[in-house]
Amino acid sequence: MAVPLLIVTRGLSTSGVMSAAIKHVTVVGGGLMGSGIAQVSAQTGHNVTLVEVNEEAVKKAEKSIQGSLQRVANKMYKDKPEDGEKFIKETMGRISTSTNAQEAVKNTDLVIEAIVENMDAKHKLFSSIDSSAPQHAIFASNTSSLSIEEIAQVTKRKDRFGGLHFFNPVPVMKLLEVVRTPETSDETYEKMMALGKALGKTPITCKDTPGFVVNRLLVPYVAEAVRMLERGDASAKDIDTAMKLGAGYPMGPLELADYVGLDTNKFILDGWYKKYPNEPLFRPSPLLNKLVAEGKLGRKTGEGFYKY
Ligand code: CAA
Ligand code: NAD
Repeated sequence: MAVPLLIVTRGLSTSGVMSAAIKHVTVVGGGLMGSGIAQVSAQTGHNVTLVEVNEEAVKKAEKSIQGSLQRVANKMYKDKPEDGEKFIKETMGRISTSTNAQEAVKNTDLVIEAIVENMDAKHKLFSSIDSSAPQHAIFASNTSSLSIEEIAQVTKRKDRFGGLHFFNPVPVMKLLEVVRTPETSDETYEKMMALGKALGKTPITCKDTPGFVVNRLLVPYVAEAVRMLERGDASAKDIDTAMKLGAGYPMGPLELADYVGLDTNKFILDGWYKKYPNEPLFRPSPLLNKLVAEGKLGRKTGEGFYKY
């Protein structure tokens, strides 16, 4: 009896069509994270379109990418500054910019969203670009704490939707959390893992659980440090020194909170507290709320727990 032969070949999708690698990446949001994601994508040979809200924000993102590339070039081409200049020019040459997300996604293979940590804002963005992007394009969010499945609800491509969670500073941190929801297809997941490697990162697989792996551990740790400061148990400097010298962390928890952005820390905690009110680790912090209300968002505004 003839038995149908099922050959599974690497690179073939479940439909049997060769899946092309991701060549063009659209990054929406060019702040702390988006500018780093755009930089690393361009540095590894991908064509990138970076989308921001207005020209001023575009200029700010370009300036930040230039500065970060300069640091990389200083290191990589220490003895050959002219090669460093060439590297910066070529990398910047692979990045185009836009203030119109619908236009920007028309010929893309992947959209990585890195806008504010707010479900309504993310829904608004993804619903506005779903019909403009090519059928094959994958949508991904760099969210720190929101449910990927919930973000994807507003699109008609739930099988081509996942999380690509990068770490700050993106050019330096080696980890990429690849998040798959129950609806993310195998092909999408494999393409996201392959992209992680192509970007020079080490990808790990995460379920769509709050904070994935890193933030589920890191956010409660930072919040506990803020509560310790609120209680007056120790000074900010001593808490940070303790964790650097006593636990080997590169930054103390309060320095890290300033580095990440106090607004982002607050958005994460508030969102989780609303969803899981019985979890004491997610309780909001009056001190964090006060600093955010005063516009002291950490390094990016020049003041947070510390002055910069
Ligand atoms: N672009 C390019 N290179 C950069 C860079 C940037 N933006 N920032 C730092 N670097 C490079 C520097 O050039 C330097 O390179 P060499 O050592 O090869 O010369 C290296 O990184 C170290 O930088 P510095 O000497 O300036 O400072 P440092 O030794 O204090 O390190 C740090 C800085 C890498 C940020 C380190 O302090 C660190 O790892 N901190 C912890 C960061 C962390 O935990 N990030 C995760 C945050 S949580 C998150 O991202 C998830 C979320 O959803 C909130
Ligand atoms: P950020 O405030 O530095 O940057 C957000 C940028 O998005 C701003 O420049 C803003 O102008 C732009 N933006 C807002 N709405 C937009 C829209 N509709 N279209 C285009 N651009 C838009 O924030 P960030 O720290 O880069 O965080 C971005 C995302 O990445 C958040 O979801 C955050 O939780 C996540 N994240 C942050 C960190 C961190 O350490 N800060 C780490 C990992 C993930």
